[in-house]
Amino acid sequence: MRKTTLLLIVLLFIVNDLHADSNLKVLSPSGELTVEIKFENKRIFYKSSYKDEKIVNYSGMGFVLSNSDSLCFFDLLKAERVTYDDNWKPVWGQYSAIRNNYNELLLYLKDINQNRLINICFRAYDDGFAYKYSFPENNPEITIKSEESYFSFPENNNCWWIWADYNTLEKLYFNTPMKEASHVASPFTMQTPKGTFISIHEAAIDDYSSMTLKQDNNDSLTFKVNLVPWADSTVVKTSAPFNTPWRVVFVSPSAGGLIESSLLLNLNEPSELSDVSWIKPIKYIGIWWEMHLGISTWAMNSGRHGATTENAKRYIDFAASNGIEGLVIEGWNKGWENWGTKDAFDFVTPYQDFNIKEVVEYARSKNVEIIGHHETGGDILAYEKKLDSAFALYKSLGIKYVKSGYAGPVNPSTENHHGQYMIRHFNKVMRTAAKYGIMLDVHEPVIPSGWSRTYPNLMTFEGVRGMEWNAWSSGNPPSHTCTLPFTRGLAGPMDYTPGIFDISEQRFEERRVKWNWLDTGRTSVHSTICNQIALMVVLYSPLQMAADLPDNYMNHPAFSFISQIPSSWDETKVLDAKIGEYVVIARRKGDTWFVAGITNEKSRTLPMKFDFLKRNKRYTLNKCVDSEDAHYENNPTGYIISTEIINSESDIKIKMAEGGGFIMILN
Ligand code: NOJ
Ligand code: CA
Repeated sequence: MRKTTLLLIVLLFIVNDLHADSNLKVLSPSGELTVEIKFENKRIFYKSSYKDEKIVNYSGMGFVLSNSDSLCFFDLLKAERVTYDDNWKPVWGQYSAIRNNYNELLLYLKDINQNRLINICFRAYDDGFAYKYSFPENNPEITIKSEESYFSFPENNNCWWIWADYNTLEKLYFNTPMKEASHVASPFTMQTPKGTFISIHEAAIDDYSSMTLKQDNNDSLTFKVNLVPWADSTVVKTSAPFNTPWRVVFVSPSAGGLIESSLLLNLNEPSELSDVSWIKPIKYIGIWWEMHLGISTWAMNSGRHGATTENAKRYIDFAASNGIEGLVIEGWNKGWENWGTKDAFDFVTPYQDFNIKEVVEYARSKNVEIIGHHETGGDILAYEKKLDSAFALYKSLGIKYVKSGYAGPVNPSTENHHGQYMIRHFNKVMRTAAKYGIMLDVHEPVIPSGWSRTYPNLMTFEGVRGMEWNAWSSGNPPSHTCTLPFTRGLAGPMDYTPGIFDISEQRFEERRVKWNWLDTGRTSVHSTICNQIALMVVLYSPLQMAADLPDNYMNHPAFSFISQIPSSWDETKVLDAKIGEYVVIARRKGDTWFVAGITNEKSRTLPMKFDFLKRNKRYTLNKCVDSEDAHYENNPTGYIISTEIINSESDIKIKMAEGGGFIMILN
């Protein structure tokens, strides 16, 4: 990575008196967040407070290995402190520069049973804290039965969560007191009674398993790390030396602070790719929604094939003349008639009615990137065999983006989607893709943990109940997208695939054929059109899809807002937010600000302040807002576009309809 070090401070101290209490405490740079460690009967515990509020009570740490050796009783050998302050430039993201500033306490421990060495590193940032374990000694085989890391909360916090599931993240959220959240997926977001926001997640998973959080049987305010198991019910099989992922606790006085945080990226390693000049965030459309609506099919044998040469050229023409840089084409390759069976796809043979070379050349002549597609159906054994040839084909054609998908149970069938087997697989795919100069959009992924800093070609992920559910199920309620930025969104970019204009999905009703058993016949998107445009700013993704059909965008006055939205930002500020209710975000690219807001089922009028703008400058404000009578069910397509002149002292009110939203462009 082009690591432009504007300021780098690293200070290292050895702690001399290991037994003085103050020496087992680490403060964030501002001093507001504290992590304290204690030893009791050889066990190690940590706790944390934020501005005089206890946020995590003393919580245990350690492991149980597969031979039932406990790694929970330790002697403290040495302690070191590090102070670090640096700035780095991500290749894409919410910011063009990120400060990484923390204080670290590194404990060197020896377990008292087997004399094994283990280190625990704690880092305190202003926006949270984290810890990870390292096994420094050579050991060819370590099998972990259980990670004994706990998070014990002093209060019955108000929580936003989805059920833990070892195979999918495509779920709707609950908002309940902590006591009702018995087994949850991560990120796990909550608010304390005093108002502090916390979210638990993990960073930099390498060769490990991903984490869920399980309530303790005897204490509903205590959660234990519960790793997704292998078939033999062990959770991690590895060799040492190795590091566990970071256990991360975001902490913020405001809900918006969670979104603004770069904690996860800061806890990941810098880029391993020396040349990143080929990595470019883009906006894209797709031969995609028409299949989900049942207008066309992925397979060719239906007579309604979507990925034909002719159709692809039509989409390319639309993209080229409307400021859209990319096109994903699903159903281009043979095998869809066998989707769900083993070895269904070879990933290199196009259907007869899709001339891949002609399509790519046509796209190139119009300056549009083709995004290739690999649906694996979860058949990892087959995909790994064909990975090189699949990427090599795309590289030879000049295709630099691939969307992949894992819709189906994992083959080998003994393994879970989110276990270590799949983490290894995703690592392999991301490295192989980088070797072929390919950027990735991964659907049905393992929950991201910030790998994109180390492999910036790993652009975006689904791992969310996205737009597709509005095409063939009861759909996603408006509160869903008001919850996502504070939950799933904290793990990294989301390919939610927003931007549907034909909200009622009626326009091509007569051409739709039911293909998905979850389709009860009356599907629609549950938001207004302004909400759909706003999502493209609110839900960050460096590959951002405008998901609707070109026919629905063509000549639509509101589409010019989508055309102008960038896929990477210089600056991000959350102006106002309440989890699950509404969120207003301002993002800057160059001198232009994009401000977007969405609301849940309730209409609301928000006062808008513009004190983030440059002083003494007049800005032209173009906005697209819900019409007075707009409503996500009764009148979802009512919008008003208007222009006015404002400055940093202006004060206006914005009304969002039920399930509504707005977008403003200021320059
Ligand atoms: C599920 C993905 O989320 C969706 O985007 C894709 O179209 C289908 N699988 C088929 O690959
Ligand atoms: Ca999906």
